[in-house]
Amino acid sequence: PSTSLQDIISHAKEYGFVFPSSEIYDGLQAVYDYGQNGVELKNSLKSVWWKAMTQLHDNIVGIDASIFMHPLTWKASGHVDGFNDPMIDNKDSKKRYRADQLLEGKAEEYANAGQQEKASALLAEMGRLLGAEDLAGVRELIIAEGIVCPISKTSNWTDVRQFNLMFSTQVGSVAEDASLIYLRPETAQGIFVNFLNVQKSGRMKVPFGIAQIGKAFRNEIVARQFTFRMREFEQMEMQFFVRPGTEMDWYASWKEQRLKFHKAIGLPAESLQYHDHEKLAHYANAAVDIEYKFPFGFREIEGIHSRTDFDLKNHQELSKKKQQYFDPEINQNYIPYVVETSVGADRLFLAVFCNAFTKESDGEKERVYLKLHPALAPVKAAVLPLVKKDGLAEKAQEIVKSLKSSFRTVYDDNAAIGKRYTRQDLIGTPYCIAVDYQTMEDDTVTIRHRDTTEQERVPVSLLKEKIGYEVSL
Ligand code: GAP
Repeated sequence: PSTSLQDIISHAKEYGFVFPSSEIYDGLQAVYDYGQNGVELKNSLKSVWWKAMTQLHDNIVGIDASIFMHPLTWKASGHVDGFNDPMIDNKDSKKRYRADQLLEGKAEEYANAGQQEKASALLAEMGRLLGAEDLAGVRELIIAEGIVCPISKTSNWTDVRQFNLMFSTQVGSVAEDASLIYLRPETAQGIFVNFLNVQKSGRMKVPFGIAQIGKAFRNEIVARQFTFRMREFEQMEMQFFVRPGTEMDWYASWKEQRLKFHKAIGLPAESLQYHDHEKLAHYANAAVDIEYKFPFGFREIEGIHSRTDFDLKNHQELSKKKQQYFDPEINQNYIPYVVETSVGADRLFLAVFCNAFTKESDGEKERVYLKLHPALAPVKAAVLPLVKKDGLAEKAQEIVKSLKSSFRTVYDDNAAIGKRYTRQDLIGTPYCIAVDYQTMEDDTVTIRHRDTTEQERVPVSLLKEKIGYEVSL
């Protein structure tokens, strides 16, 4: 049976992975909270990424910069002037849409109907109009294509306007002194402004990288598809500083390394693809997305961008502080070029969750479980005494105690053993350890494996070894 996004949303809520934010007030659009199991899975993803970046690369270090930054940061980065989405309102339904997404939807319709050429022509025309900032032209195209509002079915559209995606707020308690600041729309700028601090204090030599995990905020016009597009989300970004002229080699290398990472955490090769950008962002000279096949189609989970010296050069100009590096190998000063890898923790979470969600049926009974990589599962092992009496419960507790400083291990003696297995399947626990009467005699237990439901008998002393999986990076 195929999985719908609705299956994913329901399962995530019912088993403590993701809840709508402030749900008792009917929620807040495009904002979500992670529950007791979701936070464990998300933390595991973040720590595997952190390890892959910092621990396994001698020339990459981490930082943790603030969400608030000096307002000029966003002038230099281009976000004040260029971080816009073209939006259009339908006058009858009063609903707001992204003009580019309406046109992309139409192109997808053409493509699905086998009219590939028409689809490509439409996308090319849209790219041309947006590139030329011809918003009136974009509106005309929407009307000419007969695109109607999905709700009201009318084509009574307003003008197309540019809408800046940054959230702003004020710092300072006295109104006159208060100044406008933004909530960062990407974590990358916290890295750029600290480039020299890290380079000097760490005596880093180009090429080197700086990694960071943190929150970012975007006032997305159309927020849909669960945690795929949120207004508050988390990014895991790494800026790799290189000698100008070498950036394309590094770009190719990071493109490959990042795909490998996604495979290592369990995403299957056939659900991943590269998508080279035709339309480049204001800062890039080459860009590719790694896409995952979600229930709603292949969509971006990570971007790899060759950002040239765009950011450091602009920061140098606005801050009047030199952003140069002296390269002792070639005896030259230069502003390094940057290759960036940027993945959304929430999108990666959603990809991993969708991939893990498994519904199996033998014709009679249906079994649902999360086929998570054992190193990522919220609970690594559940210890289950067959019965509570005759010392079995105490023995099981003893085993939990011996494992829990190494992995997240839980104890459960409530209900029949089959029911307890199901409970663990639903949250993706890879190993259930059953304590029975034989355990009391020979100190062995059964390990029941989630994916196969097969059981094996092992000595308690070997448990740690048996279940101590890591992601092999
Ligand atoms: N520093 C480059 C940058 O921010 P981006 O392509 O805009 O590039 C990078 O974002 C990644 O951040 C995306 O691939 C996606 O995983 C994640 N992301 C971006 N906007 C998001 C949103 N509204 N909700 C969830 N994740 C988002």
